[in-house]
Amino acid sequence: MNPFKRTAAQQRENADPDEQVKPVPFVLLILIAGLFTWGVVYLATGEMSAKQSWGDQRTLADVAAPPKSAKADGGALFAANCVACHQATGAGVPNVFPPLAGSEWVNGKPDAVIQILLHGIDGDITVKGGNYHGQMPNFGAKFSDEEIAAVLTYVRSQWGNQSPAIDGAAVKQGREATKAHDQSWSGGKELAQFQ
Ligand code: HEC
Repeated sequence: MNPFKRTAAQQRENADPDEQVKPVPFVLLILIAGLFTWGVVYLATGEMSAKQSWGDQRTLADVAAPPKSAKADGGALFAANCVACHQATGAGVPNVFPPLAGSEWVNGKPDAVIQILLHGIDGDITVKGGNYHGQMPNFGAKFSDEEIAAVLTYVRSQWGNQSPAIDGAAVKQGREATKAHDQSWSGGKELAQFQ
């Protein structure tokens, strides 16, 4: 019997796998090295450009605070300082807080309304035919010229009011002219000089 003769079952088998030292193809090595280098370069430069763009970002504080160059926001100043008395509608409260909507003071000569804001009123004033005997606080110390101009420009353009804007220079002038005056205006009679 031939010892080398393979049985039918053996013939159906695949050959045993044989181990050989098959070197990684050169092209594949180049490719791997290339990818590796690319990865390192990508991470390094990616990190740097990320740092750069973060450096350009404004901080949270900058975002929260309006830029210093931004003009005063009249609407925001009104909402924070005037709404409680004159109301969001500018209609005021009958017999207590006079209306700004359609008011002859708001829409009259800028000088008068500037003086009202700078020094306030404590006395009698007639607005749209109604008499008021309350107190209007002064905002001269609290607001800058630009802020007074902004809030007045706002009220002069709301609720049907269509009066021209007031600029900071006009407020500055009014402030200078009455800087010796250290109390509230006594009412409409005294304010008439500015109308
Ligand atoms: C605490 C309540 C109060 C606040 C706050 C207030 N005012 Fe007045 N304001 C009055 C009263 C009261 C009068 C009338 C004064 C009087 O009767 O002597 C008046 C009068 C006025 C007048 C002249 C009359 C008129 O109706 O046109 C103007 C203009 C005015 N206020 C604008 C403002 C603006 C702008 C602000 C916000 C920056 C403001 N007021 C904040 C109570 C207030």
